[in-house]
Amino acid sequence: MKILVVGNGGREHALAWKLAQSPRCSRLFVTRPNAGLRTLGTPVDLAPDDVPGLLAFARAEGIDLTVVGPERPLTLGLVDAFEAAGLRAFGPRRDAARLEGSKAFAKAVMTTAGVPTAAYAVFDSLDPARAWVRQLGRGVAVKADGLAAGKGVVLCHTPDEADQALAEMLEGSALGEAGRRVVVEELLEGEEASFIAVCDGQTVVPLASSQDHKRVGEGDNGPNTGGMGAYSPAPVVTSALADEIMQRVMIPTVEALRADGTPFVGFLYAGVMVTPDGIRVLEFNARLGDPEAQVLLVRLQTDLVDVLEAAIDERLDRVSLDWDPRSALTVVMAAEGYPGTVRTGDPIEGLEAAAALPDVQVFHAGARAHEGQAVTAGGRVLTVTGLGASVAEAAQRAYAAVDLITWPGVHFRRDIGWRAIGRS
Ligand code: AMP
Ligand code: GLY
Repeated sequence: MKILVVGNGGREHALAWKLAQSPRCSRLFVTRPNAGLRTLGTPVDLAPDDVPGLLAFARAEGIDLTVVGPERPLTLGLVDAFEAAGLRAFGPRRDAARLEGSKAFAKAVMTTAGVPTAAYAVFDSLDPARAWVRQLGRGVAVKADGLAAGKGVVLCHTPDEADQALAEMLEGSALGEAGRRVVVEELLEGEEASFIAVCDGQTVVPLASSQDHKRVGEGDNGPNTGGMGAYSPAPVVTSALADEIMQRVMIPTVEALRADGTPFVGFLYAGVMVTPDGIRVLEFNARLGDPEAQVLLVRLQTDLVDVLEAAIDERLDRVSLDWDPRSALTVVMAAEGYPGTVRTGDPIEGLEAAAALPDVQVFHAGARAHEGQAVTAGGRVLTVTGLGASVAEAAQRAYAAVDLITWPGVHFRRDIGWRAIGRS
């Protein structure tokens, strides 16, 4: 079958790499592929969020299955448009993707479904928001309602910090429409884990557990990023905790959406904080995490095409997933300046030597092919992934590969997996 992968980052490189291994995949197409994706599929010169363009392409080319990586095309209704045209696309429809596209909507669903989450309120003007923060009398997270490419959350420890964040979102221009409404919620303390499941609207099949490192600096300090590294499994998610997350979070959420007439088909991602008072959901995403996808997909042994098709056809109740028992760990290699303004265009050295190491997969993110050479073209450039008998061994493999790769200004964290390694 002909498969189209929408998106062109590290997550999509891992998705395409896994899809290409299926005996059912005869041809792979990728939107504006990065340097790694270019080796796997035929380039399609359309932006990942150009829904009408992609629909016309898929019809003309006779694409059998379209797999959507990033959130934006989902919130724009790509799956709805493809379905209306009789084409198969994997991911939630627009209404269900609001779980990620609107934090106020996600909170409302959690309230209806009884999902444990931080106390919150929704505001579209400054004064009531400021009053609420003062009345709460503790730290808050101020969150833009809409999609903000990972820049929509400010953690505030004092009312003054909250005042500033609220003013910037509600009245500033940095986030545009996404920040005109905000969710304000109590600040939680604990360890975060990413819990991802594949859903067909009714059945929820959990993937292996994973954890990412959102902060740019070692020891989990400094500004938030899209993720500087990840590993799977995450020891903080014991099997008892995984059961609890399924029973209290994933299943009730999928049931609530189904009852509302907006069934969730796709990857459902819950960002969960394990607090001293129990689990709390921080956010939902309507897709695989990046870089969580890289560590999950190198461990998945089941044919991904079969899994995605079963989800579309509402027969996930007959699917079980097999996992490589080893651990996987990925290190994000970033360009100078990330997560701020980045320097691009630098040639990346050492890719071949790194790829030749055993149990290593180098997935490209912001890397573009230029005259036969991969050059930096974004903030997160590579996700270098290792497999090993333990998280520590997976880390050794990944860092052995990282140490062979370089470009001017490259930076990465040396401590990916520190919590899991400390536990063992
Ligand atoms: P979100 O996009 O909602 O996941 O927020 C981004 C990051 O901000 C999360 O991964 C957490 O690290 C942090 N965060 C979000 N909400 C809270 C909260 N209520 N308390 C503490 N940290 C939070
Ligand atoms: N790594 C976090 C995310 O994909 O949202």
